[in-house]
Amino acid sequence: MINNTHNDVRFDAEIPTGKTGWKSPSNIALVKYWGKKPVQIPRNPSVSFTLSKAVTKTEMHFSPAQGKEMKVRFFFEGKQNKTFEKKTQHYFESLLPLFPFIGQLDFRIYSENSFPHSAGIASSASGMSALALCLCDIEKRYFSTFNDEASFLKKASSVARLGSGSACRSLYGGCTVWGETPEMENTSDLYGIPFNALHPVFQTYRDTILLVDTGVKKVSSRAGHTLMETNPFATARFEQARSHLDSLFTALKTGDVETFIRISESEALTLHAMMMTSQPYYMLLKPASVAVIEKVFAFREKSGLPLSFTLDAGPNIHLLYPEIIEKEVDVFLQKELPELVKQKAIIHDKVGNGPQRIVL
Ligand code: PMV
Repeated sequence: MINNTHNDVRFDAEIPTGKTGWKSPSNIALVKYWGKKPVQIPRNPSVSFTLSKAVTKTEMHFSPAQGKEMKVRFFFEGKQNKTFEKKTQHYFESLLPLFPFIGQLDFRIYSENSFPHSAGIASSASGMSALALCLCDIEKRYFSTFNDEASFLKKASSVARLGSGSACRSLYGGCTVWGETPEMENTSDLYGIPFNALHPVFQTYRDTILLVDTGVKKVSSRAGHTLMETNPFATARFEQARSHLDSLFTALKTGDVETFIRISESEALTLHAMMMTSQPYYMLLKPASVAVIEKVFAFREKSGLPLSFTLDAGPNIHLLYPEIIEKEVDVFLQKELPELVKQKAIIHDKVGNGPQRIVL
């Protein structure tokens, strides 16, 4: 028996056949989320840049359910994908209390990424946020439950979080904060909120993604988060993240690129240090990742230019730098990493404006 009420809103209108679609970006964390409590509650607050080109485009076609149960068909990059289908079916079932209308529909989902799958770009962030936006859009269209854009995005962020924690940071342009912190008002463990005071230097910041290795992930992020439950350094790490967040907020507001580099590089290395000091332990960096990091250090030392890096839970490198040194970084890539340039294993991304509707 479906309960058709949520937050005193009755969800009993009949939904006809229709479609919606959203393009939603990935994001790269500057202070990392690594370690969580049920249900997708972060052990520490995190902050990220929203990307611009690394996006998922998702079209959701819905129609009255043919059978007794809601059914999901999932087509990824033109082909039916049983793995995504199962995951999405499961995710949608878990969302029934939040969207009771899901139970009366069948879904056909068409999704594609602008970047190679398993490229170490958080495809779950762009993918889950696009799905959450589509569902909120159906709710908005047929139940008029949202008073304004802010409440729409808040629910989308919270729903995206339930699919993949970091996905809740993909709903806003620029920079997003997720997790309760005294350093900023209105923050929550349940959803991300936009960081509204981003200094202009960071509004056009570049993220050049170097795909040094595109193999399958050695450890899923779910398993990685679980490892933090027994990591002997976990408590100190969560405290460090809070203090990093405090310093980084000031740097992001004032345009202090030097502090930005010191904190974001330390965060990247700490994330990997946590992986190396867990039980079982993992080494996710490749020799090529370390070589690139050393080249970044050497370039910065020699040129005095603010080129830095961050990492996700994998071997690929995100080069971060202000727009103004784009030419110099290009020369650095040609000279120091000609193989990657030749293999086109480089994605030139930058801070972006957040999701966009693609189906009216
Ligand atoms: O959103 P999840 O559960 O895939 O976790 C992502 C964790 C990192 O990408 C490693 C860090 C982060 O904050 O995005």
